[in-house]
Amino acid sequence: MPRHVAIIMDGNGRWALQKGHLRSLGHAHGVDAVRAVTEAAAEVGVEYLTLYAFSTENWRRPQEEINALMELLVHTIKSETDTLMKNGIKLEAIGNLEQLPESCNNQLMETVHATRNNNRMTLILALSYSGRWDIIEATRKIAREVKSGNLNPEDIDEDVLNNALNTARYPNPELLIRTSGEQRISNFLLWEIAYAEMHFTPVLWPDFTKDDFYTALLDYQNRERRFGLTGAQIPSIS
Ligand code: FPP
Repeated sequence: MPRHVAIIMDGNGRWALQKGHLRSLGHAHGVDAVRAVTEAAAEVGVEYLTLYAFSTENWRRPQEEINALMELLVHTIKSETDTLMKNGIKLEAIGNLEQLPESCNNQLMETVHATRNNNRMTLILALSYSGRWDIIEATRKIAREVKSGNLNPEDIDEDVLNNALNTARYPNPELLIRTSGEQRISNFLLWEIAYAEMHFTPVLWPDFTKDDFYTALLDYQNRERRFGLTGAQIPSIS
């Protein structure tokens, strides 16, 4: 079982347009899929689930859609807090959270605080997030350490960079899922997915079910993970 699964939830807009609705309705139905997958992940023992809910680039969408998404986030985080508590799920967030509208950030912080002692699974929302943004922020932090004389440039290694990222306290995802048939990373967790297995499915996010999640897990379990070694060097498969 992967400890950490990351998901690019894609296809909400197309789902809605195909049905003759506004794109925002796709996001609203996307929440049902978020609920189903969170439940499935906790049930099978995944420890960390990271969802790409809003990217740095998403700020360039029409203002109306941004407003609808932010309202949906506030509403969903608020209304799901009880369920998170009942199911022992801790909510956390990564990204440039200061860019979020105040109401959104406040609700997020409230639920993050309320769920902080839950320990069955951690649900991480990537909000106003991009991999390059995080790497730049981490580089700034490291540069400041060097400038202040606390860090020698020769001592900068993978651990130093890992620890400077928003994702420092999580293991790297072993499995990355993207829905809607697109086969791109779109600036998500660029550093962290170095060895992740990719699962692409044509299913649009609002249609993504628990069974689709199990299919992705089975796909992952059938992969040979070699980390640069030969198959013969991996004891479990040789
Ligand atoms: C991508 O579909 C999806 C998003 C940009 C937003 C995802 C947000 C949700 C599912 C609701 C958030 C809820 C919580 C609580 C996490 P798209 O709009 O890019 O679809 P398209 O590619 O078909 O246009």
